[in-house]
Amino acid sequence: MYTNINKSHIEKLVEISGQNNVLTDTENIEKYGKDETEDLFYAPEVIIKPETTDEVSKIMAFCNSNNICVTPRGAGTGLSGGALPVHGGICLSTERMNKILEIDEHNFQATVEPGVITQVFQESLETKGLFYPPDPASKGSCFIGGNIAENSGGPKAVKYGVVKDYVLNLEVVLPDGNIIWTGANVLKNSTGYNITQLIVGSEGTLGVVTKIVFRLIPKPKHDVLMLVPFNKLHDACKAVEKIFRSGVTPSGLELMERDAIEYAMAFLNDHSLSLENETNAHLLIELDGNDQNILFNDAETITNSLNEFEHGEILFADNSKQKETLWKLRRCIGEAVKAQSIYKEEDTVVPRAKLPELIIKVKEIGEKYNFKSICYGHAGDGNLHINILKGNMTDDEWNNQLKDGIKELFEFVYSLNGTISGEHGIGLVQKDYMPIVFNETELELMKGLKKLFDPNMILNPGKIWN
Ligand code: LAC
Ligand code: ZN
Repeated sequence: MYTNINKSHIEKLVEISGQNNVLTDTENIEKYGKDETEDLFYAPEVIIKPETTDEVSKIMAFCNSNNICVTPRGAGTGLSGGALPVHGGICLSTERMNKILEIDEHNFQATVEPGVITQVFQESLETKGLFYPPDPASKGSCFIGGNIAENSGGPKAVKYGVVKDYVLNLEVVLPDGNIIWTGANVLKNSTGYNITQLIVGSEGTLGVVTKIVFRLIPKPKHDVLMLVPFNKLHDACKAVEKIFRSGVTPSGLELMERDAIEYAMAFLNDHSLSLENETNAHLLIELDGNDQNILFNDAETITNSLNEFEHGEILFADNSKQKETLWKLRRCIGEAVKAQSIYKEEDTVVPRAKLPELIIKVKEIGEKYNFKSICYGHAGDGNLHINILKGNMTDDEWNNQLKDGIKELFEFVYSLNGTISGEHGIGLVQKDYMPIVFNETELELMKGLKKLFDPNMILNPGKIWN
């Protein structure tokens, strides 16, 4: 379907980005053929690492006129297979486009390249008292560009919103090599269509993002972190609505099923937290702001709102090391599960008061299809990560019947007015389920947009739809 890469193509790519930045050796093919999605592997034919927008533009124009497909790639931390080169071709890695170009302290804005690591960006803002909140679990390694592609969230989204809420303007290389800016560096914008927000979350299928202008906010000075053990998983889910109705908006409200925290403790070999026998789930609750006393009052308000549930003693993390330990446990759950078993990770999201209904259904479907699930995630957003373990399922159950189970789960999520991905994207592994949440007209409209941007379908083919 696409042109295979030959020697003269490689020569052209070397001419654009230099000998050292065009790779075809086995070790790199292995590395760039994977991301964090399950155990999937698709070999790219060649990897190219451009450093400038101009190089990206030349690569795209060349590939477009030669029918060569291109899969853009950030740090490879994706969980839906967005960066997997399923049709071979070129892997376009943004890793050398890793400069923070400007931090504008006067306007609370920053301009960055896509290969900047999210945490590096956050830390460089912190010294100036500024804050960019989206913090996916992989913040220490994931790239801003990948976060744009998937419209990532993370624990802070519950109070501060997701990536899309911070993007003002994007420089994008279109599949034919043309370079556009999508908006303006302003906080209000009613000028034309909102292409900025169309690109955010488009999973690298419409263009290659080469510069990002973010809006920033002041960094809150204090935070309080509490861990609440619940006897019943269902109660932990019910408590989420109760907390919001108390009038306090936490800056993090995370759910961890007992197994999730046990896997995480084993993975980190950190057993400093002792779990009571009757504990079946935890809520990790963070509050932030500029006034400690207000935070302590808010914590008390939350504690009171939990009276009706059977819960154990609440742990207040009283120093930064303890806070770090708790967040580390929470952030490593995905990795911890992956280290233990073949698994699939679902990223369901429902209106948050429907979380108790969702959790019951997940476990019911698990019984019916014979799978064990480990549930955790961003309860405050109604965003539940469901890790389905292969465990002792037969290959037939895992490869064939499980699809029906997932379909049943997603249909239920849709019936709750939810959807099938909150922050990991559709990519490769969820695309068969898109018709559950979008009808033919809606899907055709999206496909029409894809054709408009990429008439030759060379950019990240095989993602979002078939
Ligand atoms: C997390 C990732 C998997 O929340 O989204 O840990
Ligand atoms: Zn998450």
